Amino acid sequence: MLTKNLRCEYRANPLGIDVTRPRLSWVLTSDRRGQKQSAYQLLVASSVEKLDPDACDLWDSGKVESEQSIQVAYAGAKLRSGLRCWWKVRVWDKDGSPTAWSEPASWSMGLLEDSDWHAKWIGTADPTDDAAPAAKPDEHRRLPARMLRRDFDVAGRVKQATAFVCGLGYYEMHLNGRKVGDHVLDPGLTHYAKRALYVTYDVTDQMRQGANAIGVILGNGRFFAPRLEVPIKTRSYGLPRLLLQIRIELDDGMVLDVVSDDTWKLTTDGPIRANNDYDGEEYDATMDQHGWSEPGFDDSDWEGARFVDAPGGELIAQVAEPIRVTETIKPVSMTTPQPGVHVFDMGRNMVGWCRLTVKGPRGTRVSLRHAESLKKDGTLYVDNLRSCEATDTYVLGGKGEETWEPRFTYHGFRYVELCGFPGEPALSTIAGRVVHTSAEPAGSFQCSDKLLNRIHENIIWGVKGNLRSIPTDCPQRDERHGWLGDIAVQAKAEMYDFNVAQFFSKWLNDIQDAQDEKGELPDVAPPYWDVYTSNVTWPSAYCIIPRWLHEHYADTRAIESHYDGMCMWLNFLGGFLQDGIITKDQYGDWCVPPESPDLIHSEDPSRKTAGELLGTAYFYHLLRLVARFAKILDKPADAERLGRLAGETRRAFNARFFDEEKNLYDNGTQTSSVLPLAFGIVPEGHEQAVFDNLVRNILVKHDAHIATGLVGGQWLMRVLSDFGRPDVAYRLASQTTYPSWGYMIENDATTIWELWNGNTADPAMNSHNHLMLVGDLGVWFYEYLAGIRLDAERPGFKHFFLRPHLVPNMTFANASHKSLHGRIVSSWRIDGDVFHWDVVVPVNTTATAYMPAPSSEAVSESGLDLHDAEGVAFGGERDHNNVVCLELEPGAYAFAAPVTAPLALDRTG
Ligand code: BGC
Repeated sequence: MLTKNLRCEYRANPLGIDVTRPRLSWVLTSDRRGQKQSAYQLLVASSVEKLDPDACDLWDSGKVESEQSIQVAYAGAKLRSGLRCWWKVRVWDKDGSPTAWSEPASWSMGLLEDSDWHAKWIGTADPTDDAAPAAKPDEHRRLPARMLRRDFDVAGRVKQATAFVCGLGYYEMHLNGRKVGDHVLDPGLTHYAKRALYVTYDVTDQMRQGANAIGVILGNGRFFAPRLEVPIKTRSYGLPRLLLQIRIELDDGMVLDVVSDDTWKLTTDGPIRANNDYDGEEYDATMDQHGWSEPGFDDSDWEGARFVDAPGGELIAQVAEPIRVTETIKPVSMTTPQPGVHVFDMGRNMVGWCRLTVKGPRGTRVSLRHAESLKKDGTLYVDNLRSCEATDTYVLGGKGEETWEPRFTYHGFRYVELCGFPGEPALSTIAGRVVHTSAEPAGSFQCSDKLLNRIHENIIWGVKGNLRSIPTDCPQRDERHGWLGDIAVQAKAEMYDFNVAQFFSKWLNDIQDAQDEKGELPDVAPPYWDVYTSNVTWPSAYCIIPRWLHEHYADTRAIESHYDGMCMWLNFLGGFLQDGIITKDQYGDWCVPPESPDLIHSEDPSRKTAGELLGTAYFYHLLRLVARFAKILDKPADAERLGRLAGETRRAFNARFFDEEKNLYDNGTQTSSVLPLAFGIVPEGHEQAVFDNLVRNILVKHDAHIATGLVGGQWLMRVLSDFGRPDVAYRLASQTTYPSWGYMIENDATTIWELWNGNTADPAMNSHNHLMLVGDLGVWFYEYLAGIRLDAERPGFKHFFLRPHLVPNMTFANASHKSLHGRIVSSWRIDGDVFHWDVVVPVNTTATAYMPAPSSEAVSESGLDLHDAEGVAFGGERDHNNVVCLELEPGAYAFAAPVTAPLALDRTG
């Protein structure tokens, strides 16, 4: 057995964390089936050399009899600021034999106390210039980047140099002429009045003995809001500012701090003349400050940096993965719809920016404008960007071939218009730089239906395009906010596709920071737009996402840190109860498909679900969820109280909305049946009848089409499958006529649209890159079609279920997921009359597998009779309904069985 992939707080060798009891995880591998950990020992020391039981100075856990191999909280000596901690682990296998020690891994601590910061906030300090409400919205659009620098000497050989930096809105740090690190658009977005993130870098290799220079460029980001009034009042925090501290340890033991203070120089006359997320960046290479971050640069015409106010929020370490350029893509074609106007097609909707290569006379102005689609005449369609300019401009320096890409902006686009280009551009003139939070990919999915694979791919590109240190609603127009409602369930799917544990943990903090004293939560977090509507459905993400974090990663920290906030919020919502019904709802079942694609929004009230039904159903669901959290946190009285209120809410809900005769809720929309079924509200004995009505609504009334909006869609595919009709779910998933995901693809979508019809008649609302209408389709691909499903009772995939949901005409589905315990695989195919199923159960986990087969005797494993197969035992539901239930020990298995009768039928039906 081998011990690999050591992770601290989900990350490999993270720098500058401020969690004082970091959680450690490792992955075990073995060629043998049935392997598991019976005990572990962890060593943590202040150097690699001390990673020895006799020398270990921070923590020797000793031999701990335990199967736990993920989320093991550090319990050694107190960790001080800046400390680098080395660690390794060994485990004992199921027979009590110890493995070799793992390779060492490390993490380092950030600055834990306010007093550790010797640096001061600096910037330009003209208060009349600041983001005072008096400033006109348009003045905010054109603020140049600030460049700050200082020279310093290091009198000795550098042993270790660590930089801690917070530059708001964005920073790019340079040391001795080179950019430090590979982060872009850093640090992550926060509500700066409550929290600002600093980032830690190891800069030892870039530091020199003798003369050094440090330089930082500051962009506006969302700190200095690009406009104040468009379209909702936007929060702005002030002019960009910097806090930076470098700790340099010399070989002789001396320690030197280089800090931001008033000895720094600053200029606003650098080449970045304007920058903001929405409008783009303007770069004038004739104003380049050559050598500005090298020692000895003449900065005599720069002004002195001034001390400025701190942004107000707490300084917190950025533990989540930074945004990076993750991929570079080439355009697939170029046209010239008008003289001098060249339009490149990137082949897909993407998010990031373009790298430009150009040669021409000094002062030539080249612009790149971005859009998601084209007008009939081949020029850009930009109405759906609203007030966004989405234009990057480069003024040539004129010295040979120049390559440039912006730093402090990003765009959502498929098409790029190039104007002002000297000469004839080629396809290689631009390259698309794909930019998003660099969460590690964690999953794969494929099946025999190519359309579904395309939809999954479109979802993945949508996820990437909206992973912006917060989950944004869209990446292209003048919005790009963390709308809470769009992502509550999609977050669960994202956990299969990417390791987003830190990403969502961070966003929950952003939501917490936006909670007001009454307990109210906003619809948007960070609250750059002030949208407090006393809504239930959107802010439900604050309770729903901690559940996914717990189930998926066995992470209880989100539940612990947000439990009080959740209770406060539920309490606040309780104030809107009238006769047990929640009377507040803001957006309804947002974006239900209109009856025809030509309509912008639905005009038919019978297609809409009452806000009170949505709000009350959600309130019930949340009460039960938080009651469950109360149990996890060992608060039985809370659990009892919340449970009681949930019971009363359910009774009131059914009394108000349920028609016992018709087995319908209210006006009988799909959503009005889906929510009570998904949340367990339907009175006992009526579930099947309510479900049958839902199926009838889908198949008969809507001719096998979806008719839910954002809210109902988050539970629909799972309800259909859980109640026994995965075939109906599949018909929705594989539908190509309006409204459907396939319809979007038929109309050339490479991401998911905001509106089912993509109707451009409403320019204010037709983003081509929104995730909200994905609903629970992404979850369904993994947990149902391929059949990898977590077990909420034994979270973190310590135990899980394998249960493919076979649907007509589907001949294979493969999925894999890198859980914290290791890689899980479920890969099935129908070959002739044989059903083959390859699965992998990671070491130290177990799985319950439901094999479609007429009987256990009919199943083989790697060619052996099932009864002779090692690691397989029969589960409780043996041979029930053409499904054989198997309990699997860790290992790789290859099952086969004759295709069962209903399956064979399905394949023709
Ligand atoms: C956003 C949505 C959001 C909605 C709520 C839209 O403008 O793009 O994603 O959920 O507003 O009203």
